[in-house]
Amino acid sequence: KYPKKYLIGGNWKCNGTKESVAKLVKTLNSAGPIPPWVEVVVGVPAIHIGDVLKTIRKDISVAAQDCSATGYGAFTGELAAPMLADFGVSWVILGHSERRTNQKESSELVATKTKAALDAGLSVMVCVGETLEEREAGKIDAVVLDDHMGALKGKFSDVEWAKIAIAYEPVWAIGTGKTASPEQAQDVHASIRGWLAANVSPAVAAATRIQYGGSMKGANAPGLLAKPDIDGGLIGGASLKAEFITGIAAAA
Ligand code: G3P
Repeated sequence: KYPKKYLIGGNWKCNGTKESVAKLVKTLNSAGPIPPWVEVVVGVPAIHIGDVLKTIRKDISVAAQDCSATGYGAFTGELAAPMLADFGVSWVILGHSERRTNQKESSELVATKTKAALDAGLSVMVCVGETLEEREAGKIDAVVLDDHMGALKGKFSDVEWAKIAIAYEPVWAIGTGKTASPEQAQDVHASIRGWLAANVSPAVAAATRIQYGGSMKGANAPGLLAKPDIDGGLIGGASLKAEFITGIAAAA
């Protein structure tokens, strides 16, 4: 798949004290080489971003875990995309299922935030994925393609799409230890790529990195990453360990 680099993202979620974050950065900094065909990004809680940007190795980029749909201004509590860019943040994770559920973020809002992030020069990992109930009711395409991907339709140029990665995270596999099998993940990744070919362009479909997320770790990364349409991962729990580099990035 090289020169389309694999994209290995870490999502630290709402974890980390000053002390544990400093320790994690040290661990990642000394975890060994990142192959040149792999791009590594860590999604850091906002308050830790400044420290992590100053201390993390140069071949790991920093992502925020959300940004506001608006810019600078009278928006108490918000974090504007240009503010993130100004600090040296290069990526943002948007539409994570935890935010879709807990903060009731709609696919429309995720699309608006994606536009705000791209306008600020950030790259975006947009998360999509179905719940177990939706999967069992045969609604994978309705949720992932029609709703989550559908909201992105017609909103971005091909140049903007070059800065968007799609993270397929089946909700039932997140933090549960139940990874989707490589075949289950490949099936959905292939339909996402098909959706991109039909609704954006074949060139964008070929170039877009589609990451898998959900209980990914060193032990299952090689099987997942070997699939033709799995171009990386978005990793929660295992991104808080050296294994993120030694077991997952090294497996790509
Ligand atoms: O965004 C990453 C994620 O939701 C997966 O989490 O802990 O199952 O790897 P985890």
